Amino acid sequence: MKRIVILISGRGSNMEAILRTAAAEQWPAQIAAVISNKADAVGLKTAEAAGIPAVAVEHRLYPDRERFDEALAEAIDRFAPDLVVLAGFMRILTPGFVHRYHGRLLNIHPSLLPSFPGLATHRQALDAGVKFHGATVHFVTPELDHGPIVEQAVVPVLEDDTEPVLAARVLAQEHVIYPRAVREFVEGRMWLDGDRVRRPAASQ
Ligand code: GRF
Repeated sequence: MKRIVILISGRGSNMEAILRTAAAEQWPAQIAAVISNKADAVGLKTAEAAGIPAVAVEHRLYPDRERFDEALAEAIDRFAPDLVVLAGFMRILTPGFVHRYHGRLLNIHPSLLPSFPGLATHRQALDAGVKFHGATVHFVTPELDHGPIVEQAVVPVLEDDTEPVLAARVLAQEHVIYPRAVREFVEGRMWLDGDRVRRPAASQ
């Protein structure tokens, strides 16, 4: 049984998609804990209701990023995870934290990376006038919203799209690709090798 810790900051719909899919598909994995940097994150309640340990490590209680990341790592390591999943976790992580979880730290970003890193990705996409937008699952490296790409989903950008409409179209795809990527990892069918994502030869 692989152990997964999920980090959230708010709504937690990606976390929910992972919980739901893991149960429905009977993954050889256990969601060991959900941790939020905000005590009032809605997703913590969802996790609790599902019987999963839900922990808050509030960044505002720490004097700097280093101290917060140390406390966060301590909280994570108590659950001895094989994989740490960032699911709408809205904090920039220190290089020390990222190195500690090298090769077992995944993130989802709501754009087709390397386009539109950072915040307000749907606004960025609309402003750029792109015809296609989407979401990316990637291994986390110290550079924000970079890192080896595991999986992407593409959606069309339509003429009269607004930010919320486009965000909802992308989010629906996030809920498909993130559980799929996490499952591949916990089943040993996808891993990080240097700066490349590898899969068994037959599935490439
Ligand atoms: C998602 O769009 C995710 O890609 C981004 O933040 C949003 C979080 O949504 N990083 P949720 O908390 O998973 O509902």
